[in-house]
Amino acid sequence: MTADLFDALRSPGPAREPLAPGAMLLRGFARPDEAELIAAIETIIQRAPFRRMITPGGHQMSVAMTNCGPFGWVTDRSGYRYDAVDPESGARWPAMPPLFRELADKAATEAGFAGFAPDACLINRYEPGAKMSLHQDRDERDIGAPIVSVSLGLPATFLFGGLKRTDKTQRHRLVHGDVVVWGGPARLAFHGVAPLAEGEHALLGRRRINLTFRRAR
Ligand code: SIN
Ligand code: FE2
Repeated sequence: MTADLFDALRSPGPAREPLAPGAMLLRGFARPDEAELIAAIETIIQRAPFRRMITPGGHQMSVAMTNCGPFGWVTDRSGYRYDAVDPESGARWPAMPPLFRELADKAATEAGFAGFAPDACLINRYEPGAKMSLHQDRDERDIGAPIVSVSLGLPATFLFGGLKRTDKTQRHRLVHGDVVVWGGPARLAFHGVAPLAEGEHALLGRRRINLTFRRAR
């Protein structure tokens, strides 16, 4: 373990932490793009503001969401789905900035999944106290493609489990710029986020923003 840590610190590339077969944490991978990412998010949320959606069971989510790209993930009383249109505005979701697509593809490649072409980017906003319960991402038609998840702003505790809800979960602290990729044998792993702790981030203030890239169709 100690030798691995020193290798990671010495290597010129990003620190890679394997979480499970098919799952990799890339430390600081998005840091070089932080300013451009944040500027692009600000533009997107002017057209498609964050909103707290309702689950099929009738609960309002603590995480506020929006989307960019051809398809957006939405939930309401009728269920979960991917929709080309923002139900709040009736317009298509804002386009996915080329930088987003490139970053997702680079991270997927780094984790062993070359050729990732996301058509959906869910943008999650966590304020202190917000959380995401353990779940699988299984609303996508093509589960051959991985999930790429980019963390910005306040740190969070990421829960990463197995293929069964009852499998033991690992806890990983994700900080600004970290990217997690899971696919292949880990594609349907249960995962979630523990309630966000209070804090103030230099660039994003009292928020954590997560970009989740997927191949939906
Ligand atoms: C998600 O599973 O959609 C979000 C994960 C995260 O916020 O890190
Ligand atoms: Fe998820």
